[in-house]
Amino acid sequence: MSDERDEIKARISIVDLVGQSIALKRSGKYWKGLCPFHPDKNPSFDVSETTGYYRCRACGENGDIFTWVMKTQNVEFPEALKILAERAGVTLKRIGTREDKSQREVRKAIMEEARAFFTAQLSQSETARAYLEKRGLDEAVAKTWELGYAADIDVALTTHLKKKGLPLQEAKSLFLAEEDSSGGFFDKFRGRLMFPIRDERGELVAFGGRLLGDGVPKYINSGDTPIFRKSRVLYGLYQSKDLVAKSGRAVLVEGYLDVIACHCAGVKTAVASLGTSLTEDHAKLLKRWASEVVVFYDGDAAGKKAAERALSVLNEAGNRVRVALLPTGQDPDTLLRSLGADAVQKAVDQGLSPLEFRLAMLEATLKPDQEDFWTGVVGALAECDAMPAVDAQVARLVHKYHQGRSHEIEEAKLRADVRRARSSLHRDRRRAEPAVPRAFVPDPISARAYVVFHAVLHEPLRAEAWPAILEEGLMDSEAAEQLALALRGKWGEKPPVGAAASWIGGIEDETLRELFSRAEDPRYSASSESLAACVSLLRSDRQRRDAEQLSAIKGEGADLAAIAERLKAAAVENPFWHFDKDPPEKGSGGDAGFL
Ligand code: UTP
Ligand code: MN
Repeated sequence: MSDERDEIKARISIVDLVGQSIALKRSGKYWKGLCPFHPDKNPSFDVSETTGYYRCRACGENGDIFTWVMKTQNVEFPEALKILAERAGVTLKRIGTREDKSQREVRKAIMEEARAFFTAQLSQSETARAYLEKRGLDEAVAKTWELGYAADIDVALTTHLKKKGLPLQEAKSLFLAEEDSSGGFFDKFRGRLMFPIRDERGELVAFGGRLLGDGVPKYINSGDTPIFRKSRVLYGLYQSKDLVAKSGRAVLVEGYLDVIACHCAGVKTAVASLGTSLTEDHAKLLKRWASEVVVFYDGDAAGKKAAERALSVLNEAGNRVRVALLPTGQDPDTLLRSLGADAVQKAVDQGLSPLEFRLAMLEATLKPDQEDFWTGVVGALAECDAMPAVDAQVARLVHKYHQGRSHEIEEAKLRADVRRARSSLHRDRRRAEPAVPRAFVPDPISARAYVVFHAVLHEPLRAEAWPAILEEGLMDSEAAEQLALALRGKWGEKPPVGAAASWIGGIEDETLRELFSRAEDPRYSASSESLAACVSLLRSDRQRRDAEQLSAIKGEGADLAAIAERLKAAAVENPFWHFDKDPPEKGSGGDAGFL
């Protein structure tokens, strides 16, 4: 048993684990944050990567990864052991022994072998080297970033791995090989420039591959695998982290080549998420290394939108944010190639504050005689706590848009509007943040997320949650329905057993895999009661929809009989029946809006 505990402890970073629930920031040899076990105003909670322990200097709460899970998820030790074993990819003794260690080594060997193979291929391929040259990437850069090439051959890597005696089934689980219907394996990445992806500790966990020419998909990235969660890894953080920690600042860009371009331009703190938008976990990860993040996204409409989103995710995790906008059509890489390193550095240095960014966006898209313009302005100003900046903007806006009228009166009016908006904002916030965590009272959206989360990612409640996945009409939204269908299609009546990550990897569809990984929400503590409440809520939601549909179609339609049948079956009065008139705790159940 103690072997297993040690193995699990060695594989899980306590800073990672705790950092997923609370924002941690490095300070000397500790990581500090607000203590989750008592109301804490100043960060009194220390986590030590070296010792593997946490301790609150104020309330005295302390422990290791196991006590952390026991306390925060309210489970006993055996359950905590299971949860952490799954996370660490350790199979507990009862199920299997030795293999675990060797499995981990085999995985590592496959990843490293693949990386070395791609590097060798790059040096042998004229075409790939010509492409690098065209992109302005010299040998030193290729070496630093361990770039490689996957030749456009069906079985290049798979043949190589086979020759080395490495199991292709495992290569498949690592997203390097695919299996055809007759059980043969072929390469996942073909004809692509390869970017090895390391997590912040330097473990090789994934690859990204770009087509050398035009075509779709332009990039392929490893999906989630037993060793990789893409919502938790940032490309370039391993190479940037020392400088990020030292300067307190990270630069967030969109793509692999943007990271590389920034580093080439001397901005050696650039990182990127991997073909996904920035997640809460990414933001927490950044918060551990930096206190300020400069969002440096493409200047097109999509980039601006993504920047706005990243801004709020980062802000939520407690990062200070600035936004450096690029001219439309440019990204950091093209900026470097067209205008040089200075231009890249300057763009980063001139990043706008969130307030400046929001106002710039409003001013670019709306006219001051449109009502939304001033509503937006007031909203943006109210959200900003830096009073001098607010005052300066009030003066500027009035000066610019209220020509000819008394500026003093207009300024006073605008300030009053902002004050009002600010106090109502604070009131809402106070309401939204209860001092004591309340029981989980779901709305239909979070109820769906809850059910899916437990059916998919939470082994202990999976069997209990599974029937809800099979039940017709409970998952009423495109994404949720698709998920349920995919799950039913793949595993039918019986839920699968084992590490979620590996069977998520078995789902072919990229979007679905993404949804799975996003369904994980630590706020939903696991209990049969909560699950039952969620299922019951979903049933009454279905009933309500059925009733609506029934009155809408009045006597025609093929679904009618089925609906009538269900309504009959649901004769029991349901406590959640009236939720649409009086939504239970709207918003408190989390923002799992995708379901
Ligand atoms: P971009 O389309 O902006 O590409 O995607 P890029 O990074 O500028 O690459 P070049 O310059 O065209 O070669 C930004 C990032 O989004 C992800 C990749 O991580 C990429 O670096 N992406 C993009 C995908 O995952 N899949 C795609 O098909 C496209
Ligand atoms: Mn680019």
